[in-house]
Amino acid sequence: MSGKLGGDTLDKLVIEGGNPLSGTIPIHGAKNAALPILAASLLANGEVQIHNVPHLLDIKVMLGILERLGCSTCHEQDTVFVDSSNLLSTDIPEDLMKQMRSSIFLMGPLLVRCGEVSFYQPGGCAIGERKFDLHLEGLKALGADIEESYEKMTCQARKLIGTDIHLDFPSVGATENIMMAAVLAEGRTTIINAAREPEIQDLQNFLNAMGASIIGAGTDTITITGVDRLYPCSYEIIPDRIVAGTIMIAAAATRGSVTLSRCCPSHLSSLIHVLRRAGVQISVSNDIMNVSCMVRPKAVDRIVTSPYPFFPTDLQSQVMVLLSLADGFSVMKETVFESRFKHVDELNVMGADISVDMNAAFIRGVPRLYGATVEATDLRAGAALVIAGLAAKGRTTVEQVHHIDRGYDRIESLFQHLGARMHRQSPVAEQLDFAN
Ligand code: EPZ
Repeated sequence: MSGKLGGDTLDKLVIEGGNPLSGTIPIHGAKNAALPILAASLLANGEVQIHNVPHLLDIKVMLGILERLGCSTCHEQDTVFVDSSNLLSTDIPEDLMKQMRSSIFLMGPLLVRCGEVSFYQPGGCAIGERKFDLHLEGLKALGADIEESYEKMTCQARKLIGTDIHLDFPSVGATENIMMAAVLAEGRTTIINAAREPEIQDLQNFLNAMGASIIGAGTDTITITGVDRLYPCSYEIIPDRIVAGTIMIAAAATRGSVTLSRCCPSHLSSLIHVLRRAGVQISVSNDIMNVSCMVRPKAVDRIVTSPYPFFPTDLQSQVMVLLSLADGFSVMKETVFESRFKHVDELNVMGADISVDMNAAFIRGVPRLYGATVEATDLRAGAALVIAGLAAKGRTTVEQVHHIDRGYDRIESLFQHLGARMHRQSPVAEQLDFAN
């Protein structure tokens, strides 16, 4: 798969670093809000319209799964239309399940809509084991029977009955799956120790727009009162706070000055706090944010990733690039995923001075990074390597760019728009062009 959405495993990004970023960039819709909302569209019979949906590989995969289940989908401009009137199957295809863990979001909606769902272990990924025991325990609490054969699982439930569900960990995905299963359950469901991410609030607002009755998203207690039926609606997704944060950090790391529009600063309070501690100038006005850093950033000690509203794990690798250039010694702890430091070796190839012990990274700032050929191992690690290439002296080639295409809509266009000297090399697409 290559071309418009990128995603070919041979694609590379070639970056000539050292250019301070400048200009204004609008922030596209949030991948991590769009994915559960696309899954939730199965809960209403008819055509749902979802606006501000970015063109990302993960979105393409989710739409592919919905089509394989019998839905008709269309992604025009930044609007997605999903019509599940002819939903035929409840078997989530193994190949697509393995390709994207987020297909697990379909479990709740399919169970509610059809009374059963079968799926395969989505498997871990570079950042960790990615278990989904909390999802299963939540569905079982609502009355689902779950049978596990080798790698394949089948979930069945004639009727779901509302109940209190305590999450051992405020899992984003488990909170979302339980919300989607409970909206048509009989009676009331209360999720205790729920995840508080803005994407959870977006899902609540979408489900309520379809006729659900949910309160509490954004807090650690969410209450869902079951209703008889949901109806198709039209809805706009929130801006992507992780894409916004990535751009903010890139602006600071390149000593530039960038304005972000169509963003939601209140979703980025923890990052803004860390960047200001590093000496980055940040001004906020409604959905506009300006980020500039004309001097060498200062080291920041004791950054610990935690569930929202604390410092997001999805910005850990990007901030590490900024700290690798800071004046001083910083420490970062990753408490959400068990192996999310795979970018450290690649940054050290570029001249960084970072060491890792268990879930802590010790970063001694260096005056400069140097261009090199590096490999993206996962989505956010890849974004961090792009930032490093933008800040480094010389040329950086980032390989395995398909990881980055999962969460950034043509990242090279995004940064070119801000003055970056970078381009994508697509050997497959170029050969096809040459052949035509
Ligand atoms: C969501 O993943 C996001 N993905 C992730 O973003 C994000 O990093 C994560 O939340 C934390 O904020 C989407 O929303 C599509 P979790 P999710 O369930 O739902 C463990 C990105 O880069 N856990 O909160 O999978 C799990 O192993 C991606 O955009 C269980 O043990 O995250 C992990 O260590 C990466 N059992 C921790 O909890 C479960 O049943 C956090 O997982 C579920 C999770």
